[in-house]
Amino acid sequence: MKETVIGFIGAGNMASSIVRGLIEAGKKPSSIFVTDIDQSKLETLTDETSIKPATTTEVCTFAEVLVLAVKPQVMKVVCLEIADIRASQLIISVAAGIRTTQLENWLNSKSAIVRCMPNTPALIGEGATGLFANNLVNNRQKELAQSIMDAVGLTAWLSNEEDIDTVTALSGSGPAYFFLLMEAMQEVAQELGLEQEVAKNLVYQTAIGASQLARNAEDSVVALRKKVTSPGGTTERAVDEFEAGNLRGLVRNALIAAKDRSLELSEDFSN
Ligand SMILES: NC(=O)c1ccc[n+]([C@@H]2O[C@H](COP(=O)([O-])OP(=O)(O)OC[C@H]3O[C@@H](n4cnc5c(N)ncnc54)[C@H](OP(=O)(O)O)[C@@H]3O)[C@@H](O)[C@H]2O)c1
Repeated sequence: MKETVIGFIGAGNMASSIVRGLIEAGKKPSSIFVTDIDQSKLETLTDETSIKPATTTEVCTFAEVLVLAVKPQVMKVVCLEIADIRASQLIISVAAGIRTTQLENWLNSKSAIVRCMPNTPALIGEGATGLFANNLVNNRQKELAQSIMDAVGLTAWLSNEEDIDTVTALSGSGPAYFFLLMEAMQEVAQELGLEQEVAKNLVYQTAIGASQLARNAEDSVVALRKKVTSPGGTTERAVDEFEAGNLRGLVRNALIAAKDRSLELSEDFSN
């Protein structure tokens, strides 16, 4: 069967991770076209993966799916550039903060668009991506979009575009919340006398172990937490401190603040 040709505009971090993931999943390099204004970035990726370097016009002509993987600030320029040369193929945007209606305005046509919100662990194939399809996207295109983003981790479809702002606050910004907790744990462990390297290794491994356990266990995270928390024990003391300090309230405020900021940024790009 003929392979779907996927075209990427932008060969930076996100595009490179998706391309590597697709090739690892068995996609033929000859069915991936990539362009970038930065020739050195393009060469690095094409040399490493044997995919085709291309011009923007070639990508727009040959690709059945166009993945727009440039920074939000340059998305307008890219859309205006491709508006007249592209066919009516599916557009996948990974740019934070740019709404599908905004993309349609810049592309100057009603288009099948899938908007994605990935996160940085996508760079190592462990991403979490929320996807939203506008009403022009058909089932085959949805499957195609999902298979592309599956190459860098887990995917979840959203039925409302507004939910992308919640996903941004949850998994988009989420890695930073875990890094902050890891940073704080590491600092205190050093204060209490552990060597830097020892504290770091134990914190990293605890984070990996806890997330793997949560992912593989049938129990919920509530049940897993209760299993570690023996009555009268050390964990209970620590958890009591977290609850007394209103950790849940802080998390709530933090996610709401991040969502509000995501909405503000989308408004800015719309103006
Ligand atoms: N990195 C992540 O983990 C992550 C997570 C969530 C969402 N995203 C989204 O993914 C998108 C890409 O992020 P990234 O980190 O991959 O960015 P990046 O590394 O900067 O890659 C974008 C590439 O596009 C190139 N470019 C700029 N204008 C172009 C044009 N007109 N035609 C062709 N190529 C052009 C850039 O070249 P120059 O450098 O020369 O400008 C750069 O090489 C962003 O919109 C971001 O919001 C990324």
